[in-house]
Amino acid sequence: MAFLLLTSSLWAAFLLNMINQVASVSVPTARDSNSQNFPHRSCFPALDFRMPRQVPHDSQLQHWWCDASTEYAFLGFSYEVTACQSAEQLLQEFSDIRHHFNSRYVRLYGACDREGFYDDIVNAAWENGLGVHALIWFGFNGDDIWIGRRDTLLANLHSNPKAKFVTRVLQFGSEPLFDNVLPHDQLAEQVLLAKANLSSLSIPVTVSELAYGYQERGGAQDVLDAIDSINIHMLPFFSQNASTANESWPLVLNDLQWFIDHGNGKKMYFDENGWPSVTSPSVQPNSPLAVADVHNEQQYYILLDEHCRDLKNVEAGGVGWFAHIYNDNQEPGYGIYDSSGALKFPFHPRTSC
Ligand SMILES: *[C@@H]1O[C@H](CO)[C@@H](O)[C@H](O)[C@H]1NC(C)=O
Ligand SMILES: *[C@@H]1O[C@H](CO)[C@@H](O)[C@H](O)[C@H]1NC(C)=O
Ligand SMILES: *[C@@H]1O[C@H](CO)[C@@H](O)[C@H](O)[C@H]1NC(C)=O
Repeated sequence: MAFLLLTSSLWAAFLLNMINQVASVSVPTARDSNSQNFPHRSCFPALDFRMPRQVPHDSQLQHWWCDASTEYAFLGFSYEVTACQSAEQLLQEFSDIRHHFNSRYVRLYGACDREGFYDDIVNAAWENGLGVHALIWFGFNGDDIWIGRRDTLLANLHSNPKAKFVTRVLQFGSEPLFDNVLPHDQLAEQVLLAKANLSSLSIPVTVSELAYGYQERGGAQDVLDAIDSINIHMLPFFSQNASTANESWPLVLNDLQWFIDHGNGKKMYFDENGWPSVTSPSVQPNSPLAVADVHNEQQYYILLDEHCRDLKNVEAGGVGWFAHIYNDNQEPGYGIYDSSGALKFPFHPRTSC
């Protein structure tokens, strides 16, 4: 288990379906004051949603988001921002994420402390009809830099008028329990403070974490009670029982069941989720039988597709999953694209079932 700690932690260092057209859910009605802003009766960020020309009035927020029950199957990519991508690159890659792969979301990973960076994220998301799982990044130095990141992001979510319309959830991460960056009661307190700060914007707050991260902190039930949704790191390659990806379903179920047992029926996402195509100094298996190659990276996502209905039927609207990660430059071996930008395998995961 010690090696699991090391590998996963170091690793991290580098590291709606055609929306169920449920008319009663999140759909503006003709009575809405500026319904001309909604030429299409759908919800954000469903694949058939068309963005309004103008930023909606705040009163539209309650009709804006798709229901959590539509957020199962493939949702999008984890996307590392430590490279501080330019506004142009964000626009281009978010377009690829949305249109090439039918993503509904990007889940941010890492940190870029450039002034105005989250405005660029919001703009690229808005322009492409993508939702964002935003992230307050702790890093691995045990310092307090995350406090400034928290305050900057919270302030931005209030000041950028589009931010609350694309930011689905604010995460504390990555793996703050596993990395022991804060005692779990202080992390729970941070979640509650952020929820209070964002309550007028209706932006929920969560923690991005492994099952083992909770388990090694005595379950950290205070954190589980505080968070609005459960954003799970599902990385079965590191299991002591890992072999091939297509044999990993029991490992996935084992962690998922722990969250079902302790999560009080909250919505769940696999928000850091994948299988590596290569090992590296920071990605070493804990099982001698674990296989890292492109075939197994692909097989893992095929496995999730094959279990689409099982994941859909999980309580609280099913489990939606992200592919970790967009490009090998962002996390060696986990990319859907290799480091030269070529697709490693065909990737057309199901967005509904
Ligand atoms: C939320 O937090 C930010 C950053 O600390 C602060 O600027 C803002 O005033 C806070 N807003 C509310 C409503 O608490
Ligand atoms: C899983 O994939 C391996 C190749 O990686 C293959 O040999 C094996 O037959 C597959 N098992 C199942 C149950 O599909
Ligand atoms: C891993 O394998 C051990 C030994 O076979 C077994 O007891 C344990 O339940 C397995 N764990 C998972 C998560 O499958």
